[in-house]
Amino acid sequence: MNKKDYSEYFVKPSLKEAVKRTKTTTEIVKDEYKLDEKYLLGKDKTYFIRTFGCQANLRDEETIAGILELMGYTKSEDITKSDIILLNTCAVRENAEERVFGEVGHLKAIRQINPDVIFGVCGCMVQQESIVEEILKRAPHIDLIFGTHNINRLPELIYQTYMSKERVVEVFSKEGEVYENLPVKRNDSLKAWVNIMYGCDKFCTYCIVPYTRGKERSRLLADIIEEVKCLKEQGYKEVTLLGQNVNAYGKDLKLGYDFATLLEECAKTGIERIRFTTSHPWNFTDRMVDVIAKYDNIMNHIHLPIQSGSDEILRKMARRYTYAEYKELYNKLRDTLPNCSITTDIIVGFPNETEEQFQKTLDAVNELEYDSAFTFIYSPREGTPAAKMVDNVPMEVKKERFNRLVEAVTRSAKKRNEAYVGKVLKVLVEGPSKKNEDVLSGYSEENKLVNFKGSKDLVGKIVNVKITLAKSWTLEGEAIE
Ligand code: 5AD
Ligand code: SF4
Repeated sequence: MNKKDYSEYFVKPSLKEAVKRTKTTTEIVKDEYKLDEKYLLGKDKTYFIRTFGCQANLRDEETIAGILELMGYTKSEDITKSDIILLNTCAVRENAEERVFGEVGHLKAIRQINPDVIFGVCGCMVQQESIVEEILKRAPHIDLIFGTHNINRLPELIYQTYMSKERVVEVFSKEGEVYENLPVKRNDSLKAWVNIMYGCDKFCTYCIVPYTRGKERSRLLADIIEEVKCLKEQGYKEVTLLGQNVNAYGKDLKLGYDFATLLEECAKTGIERIRFTTSHPWNFTDRMVDVIAKYDNIMNHIHLPIQSGSDEILRKMARRYTYAEYKELYNKLRDTLPNCSITTDIIVGFPNETEEQFQKTLDAVNELEYDSAFTFIYSPREGTPAAKMVDNVPMEVKKERFNRLVEAVTRSAKKRNEAYVGKVLKVLVEGPSKKNEDVLSGYSEENKLVNFKGSKDLVGKIVNVKITLAKSWTLEGEAIE
């Protein structure tokens, strides 16, 4: 049942539209999310969602799952036996996109077993015109494409997919309202993602996110606190507050509160653990530092992307800080929050990066000694300013620099971890380790993955673990009374 033509449900994205920012304040929709009877299409049917990319996408998957369950679908563990299969995609680097195209290809075989299956592609990738064109051309078996701003419309889009003989494509380029009452089916019963804002207005020159996720839109403080309280009541031990740049929280609302206020109010709910991500180094206020220091239930971990150690590259990236300014903030955090771990993101091979400029990044890693870092080779993203820059750095050079960077990061992570040997860390036990059933694993307050021997009844509890061995990316220890 390959659908060939285009239905009236055919709205393609435009990066040109997505880049525009309007001054209007965020509109928040609080109506109950109710479904008309015609949308209860999922009786005796199952769904399967595969998500790529960041926490925002994982949280979107939970909303999509919530909507599908409201429609009557149940979750399937077996992709080949599912009635609706969705690929929830990431656009941040090219290799993520290549993996999705691989998956799109694999789906085809499932139609042989199940001719009525619906295949859908959603998420950041399909916010780009060129990708939608490519799917339409290369993958006629895909029935449904919908964007990050169209999730709330899923029941109607699925209904149209069943009813029409054509492919359904609906990708709005402009973000719409913030929907408060979308259903959610969470993937975890201990740790929960909580969106505090959507979108990004920073426009770092390499990054596609401001185009795929739209402008910054904050949720109301009271709604977020209500959600955190609810999660606490349901027995959740940890929440992670999510935003592309949490420091910008509240600015669009103009209600006189900011991220520091929100963080403090969250802490006062008494939920056991609060994390947040991501913090842009720009506008990380002293009040935020003070609040983190004041409350024990705000975890000792800050993810503070540096991207590069070279001022010239940072300027070309439009990161709004110099290395000296970053270092000043970094040192302030280390001094005020001595038990805090700090991690980062780094890009190597930005267009025309010289060996000297790369060396500045290596120097930064060696000087700052991060607890850990995500490292990436620069990937041009169509529509971003950096993608227009002529690039004279060959890929072999980028790869060689990348390897040197990974070496430096591994060394500093190992060194930081070694300082924990002999210390006691509080670990929220998630379950048996993937490699060994007798070993439990979980994350410490500092976001260190800790493995230790213990009985399964500790799962879900916060346990004191004395660290006995440090590896680069994990710690080992023993539970103590
Ligand atoms: N190429 C490589 N890495 C990128 N990131 C974002 N855009 C790109 C790109 N075009 C990285 C940044 C960001 C992280 C989430 O992904 O380091 O902080
Ligand atoms: Fe992308 Fe920069 Fe926004 Fe982060 S702050 S999402 S890197 S544009």
